[in-house]
Amino acid sequence: MSQTTQHLREEHAQARRFLRAFLQFLKQIAEDTALDSRDALGVMEFLSESALLRHEEKEESLLLPELARMRETMVPEALQKIRAEHSVGRELLEEMRGEMFRGPDWGPGERARFAAAGTRWVEFLLRHMLAEETYFFPVVDELLSADIDALLVRDFQRVDEEFDQMADACILRTSGDAFIRRYT
Ligand SMILES: [Fe+2]
Ligand SMILES: [Fe+2]
Repeated sequence: MSQTTQHLREEHAQARRFLRAFLQFLKQIAEDTALDSRDALGVMEFLSESALLRHEEKEESLLLPELARMRETMVPEALQKIRAEHSVGRELLEEMRGEMFRGPDWGPGERARFAAAGTRWVEFLLRHMLAEETYFFPVVDELLSADIDALLVRDFQRVDEEFDQMADACILRTSGDAFIRRYT
């Protein structure tokens, strides 16, 4: 296994922990009227800004262009598919955010719509990550030379360092961890 896919697989494992906690939260939100959209806000920010967008940035801006340069015949469709799935994921996230920012005073209808939109988003991402691990990463492992692999991982680490320097990186991480503890 390349260091590149190892890095991305570890991020998938971390994302799965958050997404499972988030699914648990969505189940409770249907019944517990004390919960409202503000309870989801911190974790949503963490999930979307730090965990998922940063991961997708590594895949789209660093890994895919590197693979595209190799001009392997099977790669272009795989790259298009990954980009298309990331964009579907972002649309589903926007759909859920739309339900979320209707305001904190949710009635049963708002709760149900938010929970349904959230569940669609989580299920889509879980399928996407599994498909990458099953079909895409093994091809990446075959294609990457040791040199390119080392360069990519260094670039990934640079993305992480830039994130860590953001003023609210620590707050995002803390609220994400607290959410996992609460809903796991
Ligand atoms: Fe992806
Ligand atoms: Fe991924």
